[in-house]
Amino acid sequence: MARAIVVYRSHSGVTRRYGEAIAAFLNGRGVAAQIVSVGECDMTTLADADYLFLGCWTSGLFVVMQHPDEPWLAFVRDMPALSTSRPRVALFTTYKLRTGSQFPKMRAALTGRTATPSLELQSRSGHLSPADERALQQFLI
Ligand SMILES: Cc1cc2nc3c(=O)[nH]c(=O)nc-3n(C[C@H](O)[C@H](O)[C@H](O)COP(=O)(O)O)c2cc1C
Repeated sequence: MARAIVVYRSHSGVTRRYGEAIAAFLNGRGVAAQIVSVGECDMTTLADADYLFLGCWTSGLFVVMQHPDEPWLAFVRDMPALSTSRPRVALFTTYKLRTGSQFPKMRAALTGRTATPSLELQSRSGHLSPADERALQQFLI
């Protein structure tokens, strides 16, 4: 059975709910998905996963300067370098107005440390949209 780890950093709970929705979708598609916050994550389990979902809420000045927050960046710095082919990596975020430079900043922090992220999901509500579900389904193929 394929395994996924969904690691999130959430300030007020929306990104946690989005991560939970992603994990529930994966479990419903036959992928054993586990969800943990950046603070709870056992780094030694990451290399054994087939899929790694990394999520962080969007912080910034609402129209410009979006970036993942320091606890998420610290998690990435502390993470062991993973293979560039496995686990396959997806990014997710929640936001209010625009994600702007959030994904570029997340990708930059991961450069050379994981496989290149091949999926980016974003939500205002923390719910999975039909488009998110289609994108996830494609990602699993
Ligand atoms: C200090 C602060 C800065 C924020 N900056 C942005 C921003 O630049 N762009 C945006 O779209 N949303 C911004 N938001 C909104 C959050 O990204 C949004 O509410 C998100 O869903 C919060 O996720 P969480 O509940 O997981 O913490 C900001 C929120 C806060 C508290």
